[in-house]
Amino acid sequence: MITEQIPVIQNEEVTEGIFRLTLRSKQIATGAVAGQFINVRVSDSPVPMLRRPFSISEKKGDTISILFNIVGVGTRILASKRKGDLLDVLGPLGNGFAPFLTDQKFELAVIVAGGMGVAPMPFLLSSLPRKTESIVLLGARTAGQLVKTGLDNLSIATDDGTEGARGNVVDLFRKRVAAFDPTKTKVFSCGPTRMMQALSAVAAKHSIPCFISLECDMACGIGLCQGCPVPAARGEKKYVLVCKDGPVFNSHSVYV
Ligand SMILES: Cc1cc2nc3c(=O)[nH]c(=O)nc-3n(C[C@H](O)[C@H](O)[C@H](O)COP(=O)(O)OP(=O)(O)OC[C@H]3O[C@@H](n4cnc5c(N)ncnc54)[C@H](O)[C@@H]3O)c2cc1C
Ligand code: FES
Repeated sequence: MITEQIPVIQNEEVTEGIFRLTLRSKQIATGAVAGQFINVRVSDSPVPMLRRPFSISEKKGDTISILFNIVGVGTRILASKRKGDLLDVLGPLGNGFAPFLTDQKFELAVIVAGGMGVAPMPFLLSSLPRKTESIVLLGARTAGQLVKTGLDNLSIATDDGTEGARGNVVDLFRKRVAAFDPTKTKVFSCGPTRMMQALSAVAAKHSIPCFISLECDMACGIGLCQGCPVPAARGEKKYVLVCKDGPVFNSHSVYV
């Protein structure tokens, strides 16, 4: 993990209010695995003081990309960055999906992404073990907020029915879950907490291993401030830290 000033290569609005920011850092790109994140100081001014965390969405050569939507002051500043600007970035951080890709063999990866939870999925798909099949269930509020780049075998759900099935992405999963062989399937998910709670429950009911990438407010991003605890469901610890122990967890191991 390193902190460095790295240059913006590109910052493009891919769809309404959603940006893909590409940065050049050989050191971060070399060390990064799918599901890890970077913690970005968006401005030299005192506001906002804290860094903002973003999943690494893709890595290509010595570049990494993040995908973000504008929700507040930090992301608004980030959206204004231009090619050549320097950003103070800490990363790669956290434990990604990697341990869960190799611990037990599987043949089908079911990716379930809601909203900006789509961000880490292109990197995850490119990291799957050879010959693993994949399907992607993608949900968003409306068609204009779907980001499909880097995703294959897509099924879509939108809350307003403007693309794909009307409803949420967990409904899509529910409709297909009976066809998944629990001994050969793993589910990987990122999205709003309530979505992942519902998904984890359905996966558990069908005995399908499910791995979730959690989001929460963060400060240091490296396990020092204790600012990102979630209750642990197993083991000796009462709490685990999203930034250091996650953000990716086996859904059985945490209460979300
Ligand atoms: C490990 C991790 C990875 C993330 N990856 C991505 C990503 O790839 N793309 C992306 O768009 N976002 C991602 N996020 C969320 C992102 O960090 C926040 O959206 C961002 O920090 C908001 O900063 P802001 O200054 O614009 O908003 P603020 O002004 O800080 O907040 C605006 C509003 O958003 C809410 N908010 C802020 N952060 C979060 C959060 N983490 N979860 C829910 N609500 C929040 C605040 O409570 C407030 O209501 C990730 C978060 C974590 C912890
Ligand atoms: S954000 Fe500081 S411990 Fe996790």
